[in-house]
Amino acid sequence: MAWALAERPELLDAAVAARPALVSVSFGDPAPAVGPLHEAGIAVAAQVNTADDVRRAQEAGVDLLVAQGTEAGGHTGHRATLPLLQEVLALADRPVLAAGGIATGAGIAAALVAGAAGVWIGTPLLACPEALNSPAARARVCAARGEDTVLTRAFDVAQGLAWPERWPGRALVNDFSREWHGREEELAADAEATRRVVEARRTGDLAAAPLYAGESVGLVTAERPAADVVRDLAVGAERALRAAADLLTGP
Ligand SMILES: Cc1cc2nc3c(=O)[nH]c(=O)nc-3n(C[C@H](O)[C@H](O)[C@H](O)COP(=O)(O)O)c2cc1C
Repeated sequence: MAWALAERPELLDAAVAARPALVSVSFGDPAPAVGPLHEAGIAVAAQVNTADDVRRAQEAGVDLLVAQGTEAGGHTGHRATLPLLQEVLALADRPVLAAGGIATGAGIAAALVAGAAGVWIGTPLLACPEALNSPAARARVCAARGEDTVLTRAFDVAQGLAWPERWPGRALVNDFSREWHGREEELAADAEATRRVVEARRTGDLAAAPLYAGESVGLVTAERPAADVVRDLAVGAERALRAAADLLTGP
């Protein structure tokens, strides 16, 4: 999170020290992070949510853009994936990935045919045993429908997090979001509500803790190893791409 790096530059040092192939720097200006990452031989991605974000990320010298639609789980912008992707592709002079709401092989194929160089997923991995979610959270993810998410600042405001207003978070609706979403100003002054979320995060109380998930959560119905999820997506994408070619030539 670029805005967090501004206050805590040691987080970037920790990311470099882990020697990853790629670091994603999003939600703010990626420019200060690009130099140190490139010097360490690490490629840089930036998620973008608007046309202005694209210009800023390209000027900063990132290697890869991720057009992140509002369907995505976690913090995101307000533009839908497909129109945003098309606009980013028109502006970009480097590879663009599509993110937000993609959870099937056919969905991947659609993004690739639209011109994306690949896709970037989060929600389809939320019920994987490799993820840090508790068993109760994984069960909630598996039971949730696509209609059960809310894009809200309530959890950030409750925790006093310095997330800029333009990036709310998409989470599963719960008792806390039902009570406070849309009443953020009042929430900021309510010490008891703040305490409730902080405590809920500590104890894993899903009625008040945020469980970030995107609109594709309705497609996540079983706990499965991450490798199986990714393999099925790849197989499904290939099948869908072959079927798409048949649309032109006949089977
Ligand atoms: C639980 C969760 C946590 C996330 N945390 C971050 C994060 O810390 N930084 C970030 O850049 N994106 C984060 N994201 C967003 C993902 O990078 C990605 O844009 C999103 O998951 C893609 O859309 P999808 O959720 O519909 O697959 C998170 C997403 C989820 C679901």
